[in-house]
This record gives sequence, C-alpha cells and structure tokens, in this order.
Amino acid sequence: VINLGISIPDFGPPLLFKQRLQELLALHVSFSEYDCYADSRGLYALRNAITNRYFKKYGIALNAEKEILITHGAVEAIWLTVFSTTNPGDEVLIPDPSYMIYESIVKACGRIAIKIPTYAENGFVLSPNDLKKAITKRSKLLLLDSPVNPTGVVYSKILLQEIIQVVSAAELYIMHDEVFDDFTYKGDFTPLIQFDSYKEKIIMVNSFSKRFGMTGWRIGWLVACSQLTEQILKVHTFTHLAMNHMVQRALADVVNSESIENEIHANKNKIHHQALECIRDLNKIFGFHFLNLDIQAGMYIFPEIKSLCKKFIPHADSKKDRSTAVAKFLLEKFKIAVVPGSAFGQQGVDYIRISIATSYEKLQETVYRLTQGLGLK
Ligand SMILES: Cc1ncc(COP(=O)(O)O)c(C=O)c1O
Repeated sequence: VINLGISIPDFGPPLLFKQRLQELLALHVSFSEYDCYADSRGLYALRNAITNRYFKKYGIALNAEKEILITHGAVEAIWLTVFSTTNPGDEVLIPDPSYMIYESIVKACGRIAIKIPTYAENGFVLSPNDLKKAITKRSKLLLLDSPVNPTGVVYSKILLQEIIQVVSAAELYIMHDEVFDDFTYKGDFTPLIQFDSYKEKIIMVNSFSKRFGMTGWRIGWLVACSQLTEQILKVHTFTHLAMNHMVQRALADVVNSESIENEIHANKNKIHHQALECIRDLNKIFGFHFLNLDIQAGMYIFPEIKSLCKKFIPHADSKKDRSTAVAKFLLEKFKIAVVPGSAFGQQGVDYIRISIATSYEKLQETVYRLTQGLGLK
C-alpha cells in the first residue's frame, strides 16, 4: 500500500538538531539537570529562541517569560485553548472543512462544536458574514487554522482583520493554529497575534512536528497574553507537568540557525514542486478535479472526486459519504491510502486528501497506478 493518508513528513529532523542531541548525550555521564523536570512553562532558552523567531520573521515582540508555553505538540496547545477559555456547554466555532481533531477535542471537553460551512466556489475560505451568522450568546471561541489542513488556504491579512472585527464584536476568543506556516508557497502568511489591539483574546498554537519533520518528538508551543498564559499554565502543569528536558535544550541551541533555515527551505521547495506535479498529473486522470492547479500552502492536495464516485461506486452517491467510499475504492483497487474529505467536515464529502510530503517515487507510482486503472479524461 502506498500510504498518502497519514500526515507525517518523510524528511525527518534537521541534521544539526540530531548532532546537538548526540553531543548532549555524549556529555551526559551521570545524573544531570536533564534528568530532572524542566520548567513547566518550557525551557526558558527554547521559549526565548521561539520568541526571537517571531521577531525576526514578523517583527512581533513577545515576552519569553510570560507569553509562551512549550507544549506536547500543537494538539496539547489546542486542547489547553479549548479547556481554558470555555466552560462546559459553551459553543466553539469551527470552519468546515478544517483539521479534524478540533471537533473531537471540543466534544471531549463537553463543549458544543458549531461547524461553519466554507464553500469550494469561494476557495473554502471562511466568510466573515457566515461567521457572524453562526455566533450566538453561547459562542466563546473560534478555532481557525491558517494554512488550513486539508485545503491549504492561507488567510490574508485583510480577511483576518475582518474576522477579528466579527469576533471582537462578540468578545470571542480566537485560536490561530499555524503549524504549516513554514510551508506557505503563495501569498503572505500572517500570524494573528500581529493584531495587537485584540491580543488579550488571541491564542497561537504551533509546533516542530511539520517544520522539522519530527511528529514523534511531541514538542509544540502556545502563545497568548500573560494573563491568559498564566491561567493556561495551570492546566498544562496539572496535565503534563513539563516537556522532555534534553530535547528542549537541543532545540533551543539550534532552532534559529541558518543551516536549519536552509533545510526547511529545501524541504518546502521539494514539497511545493511535488504538489504542482501531482496536481498537474492527477488532473488529467478521469475523476480527479482540482479547483486550482496551484497550491497556496501545506502538505496536502485536495481533489474533488464526485464523478469518480458516480462512475465507479454509484451506490455510494445515495449515501452521504462519497469520500469514504472513494477512499475505500482506491485502497482496495489500487492499494493507495488517502483520507476521506468528510473526516474534515461535511463540506469535504466530495473530496479526498492526499499527502504529498512523501517521496517523489511514491507519488509517481500513484499517478501510474491511477492512470492505468482509471484512464485519462
Ligand atoms: C492543522 C494542524 N494542527 C495541529 C496538528 C498537530 O500537530 P502536533 O503534531 O504538533 O500535535 C496537525 C497535524 O496534522 C495539523 O494538521
């Protein structure tokens, strides 16, 4: 099976990080500080390195002591956000489609997930008007990913400004999940925290999982104003205590190095190139249709598969979940694993998500199998 489903970049952690970790281990002869709990907020050196990155990249000055926490990946930061800013029974707004884990976290916390449809004809971008209509007295938080998983949408500064206007009128918290920020190919990526005037209600979540190809190391972070961070810290401390000490040290020492920036840049170019080739080739195959022959950001492509479903699995059309039927068909018939679009929300029911952060050979083999099996348009 060619696995293009799971979201694991195949490039692995940067060389410099691995070297630094090896040095630290080599120096470690007996009991050391790294065998003890790190600061619950995260190692100061790492918090400082990350805040330096925000300053260098976007000119945003953050307080490394008070406005950032190191978390167990971005997922913990999302969980902390939902748990700390809302109460049971509160409504949490989620654009549809977006990262599938949001809805599960909201429900697991006993909050109510309100999905706001976004539409293919508008490029799957959340409309501030639709957002406004979805807000009720019980709404407390909007969960927004930009770049969006699975569509690759990047919210422009102007649109974010409009979204801020809507959420501020209702005094909602807003979380910006920016884990794919380093994989923006087109347009300018804007971190929401740039909107200083609404800073007290903005939470940013991010991680090393995608940028450093280290999903298994579980290191992420959360940025918020000092009062909010202080509250969130309590939840983090009581659930996780602290993150891996030595890994934080090694990351802190290398995270802003030029060599790592170059590695990220090379990985980004490779993924972008693969995405463009894959879109071009799949778009020629029967049943695959792309809204756009380009990709704005991220590690996935999101073709529409309505006609594929209609021709090869006509019985699935009457049922609601066409994307699951197509994912099953591709797996059984061609041994190609993808994620059904419906996993990201009802609006994804005619789409599948294909991960392109894999080897060029696997993608070529995928195109070959599908061309042979489905034929050209
Ligand atoms: C949008 C988005 N946010 C967060 C995550 C999870 O990140 P982490 O591995 O840092 O928990 C993912 C993983 O695919 C994702 O796509």
